[in-house]
This record gives sequence, structure tokens and C-alpha cells, in this order.
Amino acid sequence: MLVFAIETSCDETSVCIMREDKKIYSHIIFSQEVHKQHGGVVPELASRAHLEILQKITNQAFKESGKSCQEIDVFTATCGPGLIGPLLIGSTFAKSLAIGSDKPFVPINHIESHVLSPTFNNELNYPHLCLLLTGGHTEIYLVESKQKIVLLGETLDDAVGETFDKVGKLLGLQYPGGPEIEKMALNGNEISFNLPTPLLHENNLNFSFSGLKTSISKIVKENELNEIFISNLSASFQFCVSKILLEKIKKTLKKLKEKSIEIDTLSIVGGVSNNKYIAKKIKNYFEKKNIKILLPTRNMMSDNAAMIAWNCINKDLSSSKDIYFKASPRLVIK
Ligand code: KG4
Ligand code: ZN
Repeated sequence: MLVFAIETSCDETSVCIMREDKKIYSHIIFSQEVHKQHGGVVPELASRAHLEILQKITNQAFKESGKSCQEIDVFTATCGPGLIGPLLIGSTFAKSLAIGSDKPFVPINHIESHVLSPTFNNELNYPHLCLLLTGGHTEIYLVESKQKIVLLGETLDDAVGETFDKVGKLLGLQYPGGPEIEKMALNGNEISFNLPTPLLHENNLNFSFSGLKTSISKIVKENELNEIFISNLSASFQFCVSKILLEKIKKTLKKLKEKSIEIDTLSIVGGVSNNKYIAKKIKNYFEKKNIKILLPTRNMMSDNAAMIAWNCINKDLSSSKDIYFKASPRLVIK
């Protein structure tokens, strides 16, 4: 089975041609530059950029793969959650190719695809925990099987990636803030600022990051934005985020243990899993407790079409006729 997948839920336009046995014939990720000057994603500009680039990279993918549209068995695209304009462009494009080729179209959930992304390059035991860290979501899932993904905790306000981006903007760094903060933090001292850790000691598995962002905004107003200050605040921010994540995972494991659910694997997925400092902090702590930390391959961490193709390949396509056919900004994993 040969799958053609599209991802356009936010500001990455991506296509992938993947065979059932994981062979990737082509995988193109185009990160839209237009948002940099606005310090964040502008949905209308994202839609226009997807329209401009999607056809080009589709042609390029067929060209470099040596495959033709007629050889594709299944067309698939992200249908949510995400920005509705971008979602409609990608999914309608894929559906049109499917109709034109008289082949099925399979709608795919973006979050589920992030959660399943490490199963492409790792053998994961079930159940395992998944820490999902993206620009729009911060969630802890219990992955009982590829079909049964249970939400245990989530952010009550901002997502981690969003917080990185907002803090980056406050510090005068380029969008997206995540990679920029990670770079600046390399030369910073992580104990320079004592930042708040909301909900840390509450007995639930939810996160809150908006207070952290507000506190950083206050510190920025009271100081001169020079390189040393930016590096120190970036390092202290990363330290604080990793402390919050670490504590919540510990709490989750404890709660699961009380229910006799033993976990030996934790996956970290989504754009923020690119952050080597955070991944290392979590790894260093949990590997001593005999919990394996697994990550997706680098090109499946940030938004990409390969994880959409892989999720589609893992579906029972005999029942795909009944899957939702609409693009929705707020799909939840059932
Ligand atoms: O998963 P993703 O590509 O898109 C969504 O589904 O939202 O995640 C994007 C987020 C952005 O907020 C970006 O700043 C963050 O991932 N990110 C990082 C790093 N690389 C990307 N955050 C921290 N450190 C990084 N190295
Ligand atoms: Zn994503």
C-alpha cells in the first residue's frame, strides 16, 4: 500500500509518500517564513502560503519519488485540530486527488499522529506514557494501544510551545521562540531567576503556564534586554519548564502505580521534543528509575506529513468509510 499524506494544520506545509513497510519515497516539509515578521502565526497568511506551496511540493514529491498519482492507494490529510483555513486547504486538496484517482481518502487527527510518531522508529511497550508538547497542546496520555489513547492531564491555559514562543517574543527573539530560547540558554545560568511553577504541588495532572509568562513579562520590563540577561532568563525559563514537566510525570506515574498500572516507557513528542535540554533533564531523571525515554525521529518531531502517513498506515482501513470527513479545529482523540 502506497500512501500520499498532507499536513497543513498550522504553519508547516508538508507532504509525504510512504509505503506500508515504512519506506519513505519522499518527505518534504516547508516551514512558512512569512510569520517571522509578525512574531507568531497569522492564520490568513498561513492559508495563503499553503495554497501557494502545496501544489509545488506535491509535484516535487512525485518527481523525486519516481511514483505517479495513479500508483497511490490511499490519500490522507490532517483534518484537525488546527487552524481551520489551513486544515481545509490540505484536506480538500487531498480529497480532490483521491476523487480524481478513484481512491479512498482517510482523515487523520494531528494530535493522535504526534502521539503515535515514536512507534515509527521504536518498539514501544503498552501501556506507555506520552508527554505531548506542541505549540497548541500540552498533554499527558496513557497509550494503552495504538487505538486506545487516554488523556490524563492537560494545560489549563497556554501550551508549552506557545509559552516558549511568547517568552521568545518578550525577549526580542525571532519566531518560533522555542529553538531561539534553547540556543540563548546554552550560555545562561539557570538559577539566575526564581520563576513561579503554577499547579506544581496540586494533586492533579494538569499544567498552567500563563502565570510563568506573566512573571517573565514583569522581569523583562524591569531589566535591560542585553545578551547576558536574555541568556540567563532563557536558561531559568527552560529550567522551570523542565521542573514542571518532571514533577507532573512523577505524579502521573505515582497515580498510575496506585491503580496497579506499571509504566516502563515514556515518549516525548511534538515540536518541543526538539529541545535537547528538556529531553536530557527528563531522561537523566527517569532512566535512573528504569523508565525508558523514547523520542520520534528528528523529522517527525515538529509538524510533518510522515507522521500523518504513518498514522494512516496503522488504521484499520476496512472501517475508514465511517471515519469523520470534516475538518475541525478542535478534534479530540476518541
Ligand atoms: O508540534 P509542532 O511543530 O506544532 C504544533 O502542533 O503546534 O510544535 C511547534 C512548537 C512551537 O511552539 C515551537 O516554538 C516549539 O514547538 N519548538 C521548540 C523547539 N523547537 C520547536 N520549543 C522548545 N525548544 C525547541 N528546540
Ligand atoms: Zn503538531
